[in-house]
Amino acid sequence: IMTQQVSGSSFLESCFLKMPVRVCSPLRQRRHTLPASEFRNLTPQDAISVFEIEREAFVSVSGVCPLTLDEVLNFLGQCPELSLGWFEEGQLVAFIIGSGWDQERLSQEAMTQHVPDTPSVHMHVLSVHRHCRQQGKGSILLWRYLQYLCCRPGLRRALLICEDFLVPFYLKAGFKEKGPSAISVSNMQFQEMEYMLGGQAYARRNSGC
Ligand SMILES: CC(C)(COP(=O)(O)OP(=O)(O)OC[C@H]1O[C@@H](n2cnc3c(N)ncnc32)[C@H](O)[C@@H]1OP(=O)(O)O)[C@@H](O)C(=O)NCCC(=O)NCCS
Repeated sequence: IMTQQVSGSSFLESCFLKMPVRVCSPLRQRRHTLPASEFRNLTPQDAISVFEIEREAFVSVSGVCPLTLDEVLNFLGQCPELSLGWFEEGQLVAFIIGSGWDQERLSQEAMTQHVPDTPSVHMHVLSVHRHCRQQGKGSILLWRYLQYLCCRPGLRRALLICEDFLVPFYLKAGFKEKGPSAISVSNMQFQEMEYMLGGQAYARRNSGC
């Protein structure tokens, strides 16, 4: 059920058991109580860390954040099960925030609204801490998130808008272009991308390619 949060990440673990996790020695594990690498749903308590990464990633570049702090709090309060954070030794290094959407294409209202119990997920933001970029983390988190959504009953597709320069990044992850989006923010134009849950990327990863 969409409104239920996955707790204790046992559900996540069952989805991702086959995924590689950073290996560290038993000695190192004993010295640190925080897990080296952890993926879990975000909560409103993570909003400040989320917003710090987001602010650095977007404000300095375009002056516009996909989500304000209030919107982050709002979505993490309403649909935490559609978010995923990557933590290293307790620090947030990358995250995705999503919400439910009930129409074929994304429209301006989708930017601020969560529609519960719908087959479409609107991915508002994927962001990686600036110290951790270009290491494959964005792609790995995106892939884990899409696999996680595949495990959730009732979900059929993920939608997002992005600027032209990131279209190849999302195409590589298995998204298809839906064409120019009707949404515009501060005169910026976006492409809309769609990922059909339940198949292609999973099959590709498991075919040994
Ligand atoms: C976009 C982002 C999530 C990618 O995460 P990442 O961990 O750096 O990405 P990966 O290491 O998995 O993959 C790198 C690929 O991302 C794409 N990419 C990342 N930043 C890019 C940029 N500024 N311009 C063009 N392509 C870019 C490229 O395809 C790149 O592959 P390449 O190095 O072979 O060209 C990350 O750079 C980020 O947080 N950027 C700022 C926030 C943002 O733009 N978010 C996306 C819109 S919501």
